[in-house]
Amino acid sequence: MNDRFLRACRALPVDRPPVWVMRQAGRYLPEYRALRERHDFLTMCREPELATEVTLQPIRRFGFDAAIVFSDILLPLESMGCGVSFDPGPKIAAPVRSAADVARLEPARMLEAPLPTAQAIAMLRAELEGRAAVIGFAGAPFTLAAYLVQGESREGFPLARRFMLQQPAAFAALLDRLADAMGHYLARQIDAGAQAVQLFDSWAGMLPADEFDALVLPVVRRLVDRVRPLGVPVIYFATGVAHLLDRLPATAADVIGLCWRTPIDEAVRRLGAPVPVQGNLDPQVLFAGDEVVASRARDVIARGRTASGHVFNLGHGILPETPLGAVETLVETVRASARELATPVA
Ligand code: CP3
Repeated sequence: MNDRFLRACRALPVDRPPVWVMRQAGRYLPEYRALRERHDFLTMCREPELATEVTLQPIRRFGFDAAIVFSDILLPLESMGCGVSFDPGPKIAAPVRSAADVARLEPARMLEAPLPTAQAIAMLRAELEGRAAVIGFAGAPFTLAAYLVQGESREGFPLARRFMLQQPAAFAALLDRLADAMGHYLARQIDAGAQAVQLFDSWAGMLPADEFDALVLPVVRRLVDRVRPLGVPVIYFATGVAHLLDRLPATAADVIGLCWRTPIDEAVRRLGAPVPVQGNLDPQVLFAGDEVVASRARDVIARGRTASGHVFNLGHGILPETPLGAVETLVETVRASARELATPVA
């Protein structure tokens, strides 16, 4: 039974930091690319057997301490009545541009639909037998709203920002609906056996602090308050939020995911609360050669010791071209930190 990840999320003592990486199932893996040649991305998310297989690929290869179920943050929007496709960037068939568009979203629809992601989670629990913890996830309301309004990925999501400023009440209603829907969605994943859940707020960092406080933080808090009583740790991950760090403990998340821009020890001071953290090696470091990977990983581990709990991860998703050897070096460096901790200093 490997409970290192869950213990670190709860700030309990561990022999070394647990390690997993965001987007660990994906295109940098030849076994993923081989399966992907035969199935498109959405099919791989929607067939529980395929999603389970792809989730297990990085666990078999690297022995990560946690497995994040294979899906995408935009997938549940499909069952709220928005058409979602990837070509390969995400596209929303009917973007949200008015209060009427918000009103026709149907969070309740996702309660009825069968949930392949939940089925995959149940299969993963059976398959892994405790060797790695199973993580479920959802997009946080603001990041989902950014895609829903913009209709696609776009630097700065300008249409979403303008909608927010021009129609604040409609935007707030959109965030509320998304928080309700993601509350149901995460509850179903937890019912199926998810042992932790992560909220991805990839684009929250674009907001000025006052708008984050007024509109975004309260809905994240409401969503976290809905999910935490279900008994599993909630991780809140946002990127580019150096200016918001002191606000993040108010999300009430059990773990704060850190992007790579702020060193962990500094982030811990600025969070100002003894909350466990996850992160935060820059994904680009994996291209710098084994020695740099090992020394930078050791630096992240050392800084992580200033936190009440530390889950080792990258500071954002692993990039498709990442060399496999770098990931091996990374995992081996984290494992070796246990031996170093066990060796008395002469
Ligand atoms: O981490 C994992 O291994 C679990 C699976 C996972 C995916 N996406 C698979 C995926 C998770 C947790 C996500 C989250 C996600 N999706 C986020 C939040 C994290 C972040 O990166 O900020 C966001 C913003 C998305 C939206 C999304 N999905 C985009 C912008 C894209 C296209 C860009 C790209 O990388 O090609 C996707 C597609 C996607 N999601 C792929 C994978 C493996 C690539 C699909 C393929 O094989 O073509």
